[in-house]
Amino acid sequence: MNLYAPHLMRIDEIIDETPDTRTLRLSFKSSEVAKEFSFLTGQFGEYSVFGAGECTFCIASAPTRKEYIECSFKAVGKVTKAMRELNVGDIMGFRGPYGNNFPIEQMRGKNIVFIGGGIGLAPVRSVIWNVLDRRDEFKDITIIYGARSVNDLVYKRELQEWSQRRDVTLRQAVDPGGETPDWQGEVGFVPNIVSKAAPSANDSYAIVCGPPIMIKFTIPALRELGFAPEQIYTTLENRMKCGIGKCGRCNIGPVYVCKDGPVFSAKDLEKLPQDF
Ligand SMILES: Cc1cc2nc3c(=O)[nH]c(=O)nc-3n(C[C@H](O)[C@H](O)[C@H](O)COP(=O)(O)OP(=O)(O)OC[C@H]3O[C@@H](n4cnc5c(N)ncnc54)[C@H](O)[C@@H]3O)c2cc1C
Ligand code: FES
Repeated sequence: MNLYAPHLMRIDEIIDETPDTRTLRLSFKSSEVAKEFSFLTGQFGEYSVFGAGECTFCIASAPTRKEYIECSFKAVGKVTKAMRELNVGDIMGFRGPYGNNFPIEQMRGKNIVFIGGGIGLAPVRSVIWNVLDRRDEFKDITIIYGARSVNDLVYKRELQEWSQRRDVTLRQAVDPGGETPDWQGEVGFVPNIVSKAAPSANDSYAIVCGPPIMIKFTIPALRELGFAPEQIYTTLENRMKCGIGKCGRCNIGPVYVCKDGPVFSAKDLEKLPQDF
């Protein structure tokens, strides 16, 4: 069996989240493969455009919604620009799922604080929907999400839906200067919003995804609030090629982010060389 052979996926829906970020909803061309396929939140895949290459994205949809997978991406280079050219009905490739996952079974019966920055809400969204689809199994759900500007907020329809749910506390923010006259959320950087929201660390876990600078300052903000390193989880996005521990592209010291990660607790991160 060729480990690098992708599954064929049909693009069923395209959603423009922001001027430069797009979500694709994909379904397996083969119903056999679709039946066999499963994944866990936090896992990623290698998505390909034939003739252009492959690139790595998290699976942004929830494993509880089995009919499709979704990815959200920013067009930054060769493959992502080729992906922007695709239309509904086109076929692309997907191999995966790869990597480890957020330990949500361990989080059952606990409060969860989801913290996302920019397009970093994509992996968090997978866990949020997974948890909301099994809402009775978890205690308080808090979502803190920030983007550079109102224009850069992704998943606006879902943010609207979460803001109206009585069993979810949502705090949205944009960076100073990114607000519009009618912006009703907060203004400030994500770590400051976390400190201000002050979610209780008692019986709680935090899941944090976003740009490295956001993660760097959010973990200490959570530690100030009493979260222990083993109560905080994040996901790393080191450049990858094979996704399966063979090419040595993604490692931090002896740790292969594609196989040992991409999900790490803040306790795991303390043990890594500090160059991630
Ligand atoms: C586990 C994992 C999950 C990811 N999930 C997502 C996601 O859900 N959505 C999304 O938009 N992106 C995600 N990324 C980043 C994504 O893989 C890259 O942006 C993408 O591969 C770029 O492909 P390209 O061929 O278009 O760009 P390239 O032509 O390869 O690169 C364009 C530019 O982007 C930079 N770049 C490429 N990869 C990375 C990276 N991993 N980190 C920082 N800079 C990079 C390059 O240095 C270059 O400047 C993820 C990465 C990993 C490792
Ligand atoms: S991406 Fe090849 S070893 Fe991790």
